Amino acid sequence: MARRCGRATSRFTNEIQKCPQKIAISAVWICLCLSFPSTVEAGLYTASDQVILLSRDTVGKVLVNSSAALVVEFYASWCGHCVAFSPVYRSLARDLKEWKPAVDLAAIDCSERVNLKVCSDYNIRGYPTVKFFRAYSKPGALGHIIKDLYPDTVWLRHNIIAQLESHGEPWPPACPPLEPTSQAELDSFFETNNVQHLALIFEEDGSYVGREVTLDLLQFENIAVRRVLSSEKGLVNKLGVTEFPSCYLYYPGGNITRLKVNIEARAFYSFALKRLPGVVRSGKPPPVTNGAPINRTVEPWRPFNKSRVYMADLESALHYSLRMELALHPVIRGEALTALKKYISVLVKYFPGRTVVMNLLRSVDTWLNQCGDEISYDELKEKLENTAESSNAALPDGVRWVGCQSSQPHLRRYPCGVWTLFHVLTVQAYNNESTDPLEVLTAMRSYVHNFFGCRLCAEHFENMAKESMSEVNTLSTAVLWLWSRHNRVNNRLAGALTEDPDFPKIQWPSPVMCPSCHTVRADGEHRWNKEQALRFLLSYFSPSSILTDYLESESQVLEIQKQKQIIRQQNLEAQKHERKIREAVDSIKPSQPAVQEEEEEEEEEEGPQDAVVADMGEEGGEAAEMEAKPTPWARPDVNIGPRRRRTGRPSIVGMKMREVPEDIVDLDSFVNEHYKAKALQMAAARVKQRSLQRKEEQEPGPVFRLGMELDAGLGMVGLQPVDANFEQRNRLHKRELTDGYFEEEAEMNRRGRWRMSVLSIGFSELDISLCVILYSLSCMCLLAMYLFFKNRLRLRRVKVASP
Ligand SMILES: Cc1cc2nc3c(=O)[nH]c(=O)nc-3n(C[C@H](O)[C@H](O)[C@H](O)COP(=O)(O)OP(=O)(O)OC[C@H]3O[C@@H](n4cnc5c(N)ncnc54)[C@H](O)[C@@H]3O)c2cc1C
Ligand SMILES: *[C@@H]1O[C@H](CO)[C@@H](O)[C@H](O)[C@H]1NC(C)=O
Ligand SMILES: *[C@@H]1O[C@H](CO)[C@@H](O)[C@H](O)[C@H]1NC(C)=O
Ligand SMILES: *[C@@H]1O[C@H](CO)[C@@H](O)[C@H](O)[C@H]1NC(C)=O
Repeated sequence: MARRCGRATSRFTNEIQKCPQKIAISAVWICLCLSFPSTVEAGLYTASDQVILLSRDTVGKVLVNSSAALVVEFYASWCGHCVAFSPVYRSLARDLKEWKPAVDLAAIDCSERVNLKVCSDYNIRGYPTVKFFRAYSKPGALGHIIKDLYPDTVWLRHNIIAQLESHGEPWPPACPPLEPTSQAELDSFFETNNVQHLALIFEEDGSYVGREVTLDLLQFENIAVRRVLSSEKGLVNKLGVTEFPSCYLYYPGGNITRLKVNIEARAFYSFALKRLPGVVRSGKPPPVTNGAPINRTVEPWRPFNKSRVYMADLESALHYSLRMELALHPVIRGEALTALKKYISVLVKYFPGRTVVMNLLRSVDTWLNQCGDEISYDELKEKLENTAESSNAALPDGVRWVGCQSSQPHLRRYPCGVWTLFHVLTVQAYNNESTDPLEVLTAMRSYVHNFFGCRLCAEHFENMAKESMSEVNTLSTAVLWLWSRHNRVNNRLAGALTEDPDFPKIQWPSPVMCPSCHTVRADGEHRWNKEQALRFLLSYFSPSSILTDYLESESQVLEIQKQKQIIRQQNLEAQKHERKIREAVDSIKPSQPAVQEEEEEEEEEEGPQDAVVADMGEEGGEAAEMEAKPTPWARPDVNIGPRRRRTGRPSIVGMKMREVPEDIVDLDSFVNEHYKAKALQMAAARVKQRSLQRKEEQEPGPVFRLGMELDAGLGMVGLQPVDANFEQRNRLHKRELTDGYFEEEAEMNRRGRWRMSVLSIGFSELDISLCVILYSLSCMCLLAMYLFFKNRLRLRRVKVASP
């Protein structure tokens, strides 16, 4: 023991650094296994369960030579005991979530035919069998059976600790030493360890608290945890410890202070220790404690109270959901339409919004209930923008996050707003004594399922809903269900990339926020006091405690809407005018090709805009309508392009200006990913469509084709000089489709500029100038050809005339 002790101490701090690659490799594997669950998801576990789902093909890669020890459940999905055991195993996985780098959980379904051989190779004779595999197991290692399997998380946890303790060399590098410490080790502790805090947990010999807290904190830097046995009399007497368990912070020179917790138990120690100054999750920047994070965003920081709900977040979530997320669905019908109706009707009933917002939601709700079995987003958008100008109704445009602010643009914000919104709705359904306890939850489920941009999140949420939502039978259990599932998500995401270091994912509310919500069982296991938690939730999310800071006043909101309306009208007028002119031009257009060439060229000389318009029109198969557009700069906003083409509706909502400087539209990275994929898909489809059309359009004549090619931005024949730029341009374009998709847009809005959107892509200034360059080049080309042909014609005429 003593031998292990000395070495293990340094092992704790050094070996993690020595083996980062191995840890990284196994982490990558775990991620891979979690992200491709489809092949094995038929079993008892899903990707949401934090259990590595093994199959014949992955078992070797995961088990052999892993830097973490592994606990593997071999089960058959038809076996009743396995089914009964699965919730225990799942909850064990949540419980041991922070231990993953040292010991991870996996499962394999032996009733899958392909897995049968694997299970037989591991000597499995009955189900469920749980085996412990040491770190760096060799191929062919059979693991140690955890005997007398008892379906209890505490029992299993203690067994796993026992297995870890008897783990020989090589020790899992991420696993801290688990044996009790001694005076001798403490004396030299700060000489050999570069940590800020040393937590000592004084406990009886049989207690597991010290080892559990040690493992709970293994992913955190600047802190080490050791257990001291009550039998270590020298130390106990010297420090005057009388209570077991109890936790003390030990500093160089022998300074010692007691850690203050509500209850002397594992959950409370772990929570308090993680929040000590300087203690950070490995690999995360330290949180900023003074409230305002370092200026990592371009937006001014709005100071807020972390234990309050803000209406600004709820309205921002509504804006984002209705104007951005739904906009990705040009046509809404069937199940999706039902989901939308349900969502809006729940909002109308329970959203504790301001009068203007409620009026708008009501008008949308009324309209939805009258419409047929299919709507286009354009129609919905007109309702959202209140183009019918019903009085005193508006949905504030743009986002203004307050409680959902983040230290970086890709964190928190919209998903945070969605959670907050639905918590508020469940609480309001409770307050209003809704007749259907599942009303809000089913609305949330179907909204998330059909529309929530983060598809993986939607899948996870659907898994949770399938598992237990049907058990909700009262309004209070609905509030508690959403709360506890949200905590499950928090548990899963703690330490993940989407965690904002300034807002760590915790089991919410913390013991600091709601001391009475937390309690322990006789054996020291943490338990929620559900009654107290419910009381807390009802008050926390109650409309009377929602703060209205940072909101524009209702009259301002209406005024902004009115301004937009005026702009829209003007735009419409301009379009009509333009169309008339165009029609007049069209009617006198002769059909001879030679003259047509000249016409085309004249149009080119008018300026580049028209060509863009023409291209847009042909692309969408609506040449006439599109040609009537005044300029491409007045193109409808991002989301209208593709929709319009498909639904073939006239453009009313043409231009859009958002002066609101706070209008930053951002997403969590995962949401982003989804939109990226969508945007790329859409762009790809469009390019495809375009190239098809280009082939069709090749007939009309050389000049026209040139124009097409130019517009397609695909630098082709006759445009060699552009070729070099094309690669770069393309890259820029792609960047915008991805990273810049929303930020770029926000950037332009913030400057209060007209937004130009073509093909549902926000164009940057660089793109625009490249466009202009391209067009100038094409004009020169055309001019050259025109002169060439004209010359030739003249020559021919001369020739014809001369004989
Ligand atoms: C339905 C849904 C599913 C999601 N699934 C995933 C996923 O699978 N993977 C992924 O990476 N991200 C997922 N997300 C996003 C993720 O849950 C967070 O919303 C996001 O990471 C932002 O986190 P946050 O720190 O702002 O806190 P959030 O978790 O968004 O919480 C917002 C606020 O609600 C309060 N709160 C926290 N916990 C609770 C609770 N248990 N009960 C009541 N209130 C609470 C806190 O005040 C917190 O600041 C999902 C979001 C939603 C809405
Ligand atoms: C196991 O990992 C170690 C260190 O990463 C490596 O040297 C060794 O070759 C690996 N063994 C096998 C069988 O993959
Ligand atoms: C952060 O920087 C932006 C512009 O760079 C500025 O507008 C904003 O006020 C700054 N925020 C803080 C909190 O300093
Ligand atoms: C934040 O809100 C809580 C709950 O209402 C309140 O007790 C606390 O004083 C507030 N904090 C600040 C800094 O205003």
